[in-house]
Amino acid sequence: GKFDPAEIVESARRGGYAVGGFNMHNVETTQALLQAAELADAPVFMQVGRAVVPHMGLAESFRMTQRELSKSDAQAVIHLDHGTYDEVFEALRLGFDSIMFDGSHLDFEDNIKATKYVVKVCHSFGVPVEAELGKIPDANTAINWPDFYTSVDEAERFVAETGVDFLAISAGVMHGVTATEPLPLDIERIARIRDVTGIPLVLHGASGVPLDDIRAAIAAGINKLNADTDLRHAFRRGIEETWALGDRQLEDGMAEGRRQMIEATVQKMREFGCADRSQN
Ligand code: G3H
Ligand code: 13P
Ligand code: ZN
Ligand code: NA
Repeated sequence: GKFDPAEIVESARRGGYAVGGFNMHNVETTQALLQAAELADAPVFMQVGRAVVPHMGLAESFRMTQRELSKSDAQAVIHLDHGTYDEVFEALRLGFDSIMFDGSHLDFEDNIKATKYVVKVCHSFGVPVEAELGKIPDANTAINWPDFYTSVDEAERFVAETGVDFLAISAGVMHGVTATEPLPLDIERIARIRDVTGIPLVLHGASGVPLDDIRAAIAAGINKLNADTDLRHAFRRGIEETWALGDRQLEDGMAEGRRQMIEATVQKMREFGCADRSQN
């Protein structure tokens, strides 16, 4: 790609804001994210993640995103989200700009070992790596937070030994949205992990998180925020509202879904502070 993802996140760290990582699911949602980035004048991580890979495959997800990106003026990079060990190497071969290896299911020592190797290989291709330590739970499952939170001491050792570029941590936020607000967001933990690691931190699961919590998390050291569910819901709302009017073309529903997803994404970019921060 033509933009440096590490530099985009480093600019966010220096500027005290967070860049958005948003998941594409098909051509219309890819276009929505790129158009939102253009409208908001924001840098953006276009994420290929857990839902789309089984649906259209890693290679086609990448190529389609790359094709749309080539027609766009956005400062966009293509990022593998929650990559498995095997997907990381396929993503490198395909030409991803940025890669997340998610070894959070491994025990601590194995996560270090696997992440360290991934970092070594990715860095030899100039590709930055996001890793995950602690576990990010799914909304509406049974959650005993002490089992999920990232340990400050482990984070310090993990970053020192792996050389990872960005660290996704678990600090009271979950994937998806939940009715059990307020979230047990541990701002103090985020700040301590920032202080001991010295690298930009990533918070997944930003959908459903109140704006005050988003702001506090950024102030504590979060420089990349991943959001998917709220944007997916916006796309779906556009489709449902259109089809509720009676029989319509599939394209009419998808066009309205795209329009509503653009609005929702621009709003997230403003909330994350990355609007008007594009260097393109
Ligand atoms: O499981 C992690 C290993 O460190 C990866 O190394 O792919 O060379 O076996 P390897
Ligand atoms: P949400 O769906 O909760 O926004 O989480 C998205 C995410 O973290 C993708 O990696
Ligand atoms: Zn995630
Ligand atoms: Na969430």
